[in-house]
Amino acid sequence: MIRFQDVRKSFGNGQVRVEALRGLDIEIPAGQMCALMGPSGAGKSTVLHLAAGLTKPDSGTIHVGEHVVSGMTDDELTLLRRRKIGIVVQFFDLLPYMTAYENVAMPLSLDGASRSEEKARVSEALRMVNMAHRRDHRPHELSGGEAQRVAIARAIVISPETILADEPTGNLDSSAGRHIIDLLRDINESLGVTTLVVTHDPVWGASCDRILRLEDGVIDDDISLTPEPE
Ligand SMILES: Nc1ncnc2c1ncn2[C@@H]1O[C@H](COP(=O)(O)OP(=O)(O)O)[C@@H](O)[C@H]1O
Ligand SMILES: [Mg+2]
Repeated sequence: MIRFQDVRKSFGNGQVRVEALRGLDIEIPAGQMCALMGPSGAGKSTVLHLAAGLTKPDSGTIHVGEHVVSGMTDDELTLLRRRKIGIVVQFFDLLPYMTAYENVAMPLSLDGASRSEEKARVSEALRMVNMAHRRDHRPHELSGGEAQRVAIARAIVISPETILADEPTGNLDSSAGRHIIDLLRDINESLGVTTLVVTHDPVWGASCDRILRLEDGVIDDDISLTPEPE
């Protein structure tokens, strides 16, 4: 579940002040996959950064799962991201000198997992994204689509409650992009992970349960694509 209640966020001050979010209300039920769309500068990345606790709102309340993200300390937020939230970004953000395996293992080693647990979970995550055969490759030895699959494995290795993906297909050709959206959809359905994905592409948006359209820091459209359960 992701809930924003009357969330405001501005950047800068005085003459250059930008009101990125102007009293935003969003409610995404647990297990839903929701696309966040809207023009450049609409505030989409700001929504994801706030949900991940990477920035703080000026006012309003943000819940992610049972956690009140807007009320947590930086240390609590670091742990929350390490244990409960999988983050996927446009340019993959893999560590260049590490293999696919080591990149995916990173959140577990930071959290002090045992070697045997690490091995089991990393192998399973790489298998889920169909990258087990590339486990010893470094990022520069992978295509963009493969690198993004490794980044998704790193996001799911912690068994997150929530996945936040900011234009995960933005740097890929359309066939690799299709693969990534299908993969996020599979993970959403098989693991029941609440998923919020920013995308420019209406075709990708149509793969989700719902499309939220953001314009100038407020929701201006909310389209349900799957029937509500009875
Ligand atoms: N760190 C920042 N400092 C100053 N302005 C920012 C910052 N982050 C975002 N903004 C501004 O907030 C608005 C929304 O940005 P953003 O959330 O990145 O939009 P989107 O992801 O929809 O393109 C834009 O006008 C952007 O310039
Ligand atoms: Mg953005």
